[in-house]
Amino acid sequence: MTKRFFLTKSSTPESYAYLQKVGEQHRKQFGQFFTHQDVANFMVAWVLGSGHTSLYDPGFGLGAFYAPVSNDRRVDFSASEIDPVVLGFWEQSTGRDDSFVTKEDYLLSWGKRHTAIVCNPPYMRFQKFLNRDAVFCAFAENTGLRLSGYTNIASAFLLKSLTELDDNGRLAYIMPLEFLNTGYGKLVKSKLIESGHLAAIIELDCERDIFPDAITSAGIILYDASAYYPAVDFYSLASIDSLSDVFNRPPVTRVPLAELSPGSKWLPYFAAIDYQVSFDNLISLPRYGRFSRGIATGANEFFTLRPSTAQRMRLDHSECLPCLTRSSQVQQAIFSPADYDRLMQRDAPVLLFSVGPNHSSAAEEYIRLGESNGYHQRFLTRNRVPWYRTEIRRPAPLLIGVFSRGGYKVVRNTSNAVNLTCFHGFQPNCCGQHYLDHLFLYFASRPGRTVMSLSARKYGAALAKFEPNDLNSAYVPGPDAFDKLRPAEVKRAISYIKETGCVPDYIDAFFGELVNL
Ligand SMILES: C[S@@+](CC[C@H](N)C(=O)[O-])C[C@H]1O[C@@H](n2cnc3c(N)ncnc32)[C@H](O)[C@@H]1O
Repeated sequence: MTKRFFLTKSSTPESYAYLQKVGEQHRKQFGQFFTHQDVANFMVAWVLGSGHTSLYDPGFGLGAFYAPVSNDRRVDFSASEIDPVVLGFWEQSTGRDDSFVTKEDYLLSWGKRHTAIVCNPPYMRFQKFLNRDAVFCAFAENTGLRLSGYTNIASAFLLKSLTELDDNGRLAYIMPLEFLNTGYGKLVKSKLIESGHLAAIIELDCERDIFPDAITSAGIILYDASAYYPAVDFYSLASIDSLSDVFNRPPVTRVPLAELSPGSKWLPYFAAIDYQVSFDNLISLPRYGRFSRGIATGANEFFTLRPSTAQRMRLDHSECLPCLTRSSQVQQAIFSPADYDRLMQRDAPVLLFSVGPNHSSAAEEYIRLGESNGYHQRFLTRNRVPWYRTEIRRPAPLLIGVFSRGGYKVVRNTSNAVNLTCFHGFQPNCCGQHYLDHLFLYFASRPGRTVMSLSARKYGAALAKFEPNDLNSAYVPGPDAFDKLRPAEVKRAISYIKETGCVPDYIDAFFGELVNL
């Protein structure tokens, strides 16, 4: 049977028993996920493959990387681990002594070097990490590197290990690959390629619950300081069984070092199709306008109202704006005023409480009610003056869903509803105003989706996420290319989509020819 789980909360009976004992809260506090033994074996074999006999793991956990060498006297194994509970459990369940594991915070203990490093670093956002400031200072002091506030702990582990690797050393890290597509990942990517030692990255097409807190695809980074790699191999594996002969197959893509830029997104290198796209007729989106995130109220329970609630509170129409609060409220690719009216008739929460300092007495009463329920003390609201004043936006004529599974949601919004954070909204400039339907057809078309997916952050299996900047750096046809679609064809396509919910074949064919897909 194909094994699909690479990293799990509990990949062995020991880790299952451990989690039963310590509970979810403890696991999360230390970012504990346990490496599948087959994956750990592969990584250890790779780093020791160059003949090294000492091995270091900066986050020992339950010893997945120790297991393959535990009975090999030639290998000198050492490790760090911050959590005494996990170590105690390991000692008790294996009957072994943990004296080769230093009980320390790896990110705060500097000054050592290693010839071979294997690691599955803890995964959690830095914002949740208590020692964050001390770690930032230590990094600056010891390496001169300034970490971005968005850096997660896994990336900080990797950066630190890279600075500690001997000149002829090898390193294998298994971790979420989200950093390959994000801004904070730029520094990590530049360190990985600066000396030409990045051998390969193997994406593991894993399930969503592998990193339930992060929900991202994971992979193995193979770095070999003893050799120069003029190109980096990007592999993508669907099952753990394929790891054993991964190097007997061609990579999905082999990217020459000179073409790899730390500032660009690397996740597309794992999808073979990307390289066939022709960008000749494409330009970047800001020529037409920009996407921005939707309105963040800070307390949707208070700010979004059902018509019946607005009526009961006697709120004035002018104090309740039409809005879209959930992606599921939009089931049509073309969302019209009539569609919005239907939501109103169904008493859906599609009104946004939107008032300034001069408001009606009914609004004042509603605000007091909100305060008595503590809504003014939420993170966003307590930093706003006055707390109940939400952002003011024009309705966006194009919307794209923030999260998507198996294809993003794109909506041509002709209603006057503003969008909350479930969608990113496009605000066109003069040029974009003229090409709104063209842009919509492109985003909705099959070839357009393929090109756009190059910009998405990929999370586990088919889950993807867009940030506004991902969309703003996406490629779309230029005006000359769009003009080849006659106005009557555009109109017909829009009517067809309205009726059937599907993009007509001639639109897919038109954009397909344009981008060579
Ligand atoms: C993702 S788990 C991996 C455990 C094990 N190496 C494996 O592969 O199954 C990361 C481990 O690092 C430990 N850890 C978390 N933060 C740490 C830190 N700052 N210094 C050292 N260890 C840390 C966690 O307690 C956890 O055991």
